[in-house]
Amino acid sequence: MPTNDAQGPPPASLPRHVAIVMDGNGRWAQQRSLPRTAGHREGAKAVRRIVQACSERGIEALTLFAFSSENWQRPRPEVDVLMRLFLTTLRSEIRRLDAANVRLRFIGDQSAFSTILQTYITKAEQRTAGNTGLNLNIAANYGGRWDITQAARRIASDVAAGRLQPADVVPDLVHRYTCLAELPEPDLFIRTGGEQRISNFLLWQLAYTELYFTDRLWPDYDADAFDLACAAFVRRQRRFGQTAEQVTRSTDA
Ligand code: IPE
Ligand code: IPE
Ligand code: MG
Repeated sequence: MPTNDAQGPPPASLPRHVAIVMDGNGRWAQQRSLPRTAGHREGAKAVRRIVQACSERGIEALTLFAFSSENWQRPRPEVDVLMRLFLTTLRSEIRRLDAANVRLRFIGDQSAFSTILQTYITKAEQRTAGNTGLNLNIAANYGGRWDITQAARRIASDVAAGRLQPADVVPDLVHRYTCLAELPEPDLFIRTGGEQRISNFLLWQLAYTELYFTDRLWPDYDADAFDLACAAFVRRQRRFGQTAEQVTRSTDA
């Protein structure tokens, strides 16, 4: 994986932060009469491709939905395979990610993971903490409602302790308590696999994100498909509540 040391910020039109729901692993496998878990293994290869594509394009942040807070409801053997796959992928990829100057972080409630997985997550985060290339965030045991709830709980405890006043609780403050607050908000949301829903991904952070859905199954996702999503993004006009005329005028100025 090449480093992106030499690259500056992405061209203004490219998204700075991309968030992806990597969906369709099970169907990819079923189409080939393979067990669903074969789709997850193939999906890990697509992760590698897209991380490399984002690094090469100078994108600042990539947030990948790897396991939702609802995915525990899947059959136990599938969950077990996914947990083992997280561990083996982390172990096999960390050196390459570090060499590529990627800063790896996890978001989600890690307390449900095995001690060994938690240890590897912490080690990987520490090892790459000083890296200045792509910010790669893996959402694992993550849920948008969990995120907002953990923010609310920490705000409540700061209010109870007198560190905050109720009147301090405004959107900008809530934002600082949610995950990924230190990064630009996602500009582009991609969901592979054909479903058009958010499935409890970044509920707070997606408020003004451009949504892009593709039928391509995650194990088939590649740099060309990613470029198509970016090209669609570039054609969008983001108005953030303003009129088209106001937006055109401010970009002309
Ligand atoms: C996404 O693929 C991976 C995870 C949710 C862990 P799926 O496993 O949901 O694949 P489909 O949607 O059943 O095809
Ligand atoms: C969303 O996919 C979660 C991840 C990709 C990790 P799901 O396959 O779990 O979503 P639903 O159940 O179809 O909404
Ligand atoms: Mg799915």
